[in-house]
Amino acid sequence: MTEAKRIAAEKAIEYVQDGMIVGVGTGSTVAYFIDALAQIKDKIAGTVSSSENSTAKLRAHGIDVLDLNETGPLSLYVDGADECDPNKCLIKGGGGALTREKIIAEASETYVCIIDPSKRVDVLGKFPLPIEVIPMARSLVTRELTKLGGEPILRDFTTDNGNIILDVHGLQISDPVGLEREINAIPGVVTVGLFARRPADIVIEGSEPIQVW
Ligand code: 5RP
Repeated sequence: MTEAKRIAAEKAIEYVQDGMIVGVGTGSTVAYFIDALAQIKDKIAGTVSSSENSTAKLRAHGIDVLDLNETGPLSLYVDGADECDPNKCLIKGGGGALTREKIIAEASETYVCIIDPSKRVDVLGKFPLPIEVIPMARSLVTRELTKLGGEPILRDFTTDNGNIILDVHGLQISDPVGLEREINAIPGVVTVGLFARRPADIVIEGSEPIQVW
């Protein structure tokens, strides 16, 4: 799938216009996008990054990383996904950066999602759903998620925001918007890795031939 990720990432460069501040996601597909962005770094006004990892990679290429509070709304966000359904609803957070990713997606006019073909599904939920949680709420949120029919497993990971991640196994997500709302309402949940209320706008799938939909 490495080649498919690279193909999707390089295609996304076509959406970058002169003078843009580009929102940049996190993950191995985005890593290819950052490499491609470095080739045209003089053309853009900077980036807003969704993780410390992406920030380090962007800065290593000499690309400016700006504060979202200073930039205002963005025209373009480019990020990957763990699963993508036919409505462009996503599961994200496999890399643990879901909160900053969701903030930038919300602040962006166009979210271009770059995936390899393995990410495409009819129904979301085979990939365990990541949820960022305030540490003191771990057991409360675990109980609530179990009531929803999932099996939450604590990831051995601390987010860039100092929180924990619960990966919820065994969900068949037939109503992504409703489930996103329901999980968001549990006290202690910072972010659920369902991107359904604000899905992707354009999906680039690095298949052979490449698909854009
Ligand atoms: C990180 C994410 C990533 O977009 C997702 O995990 C996909 O990663 P990759 O491109 O490495 O397959 O949501 O939080």
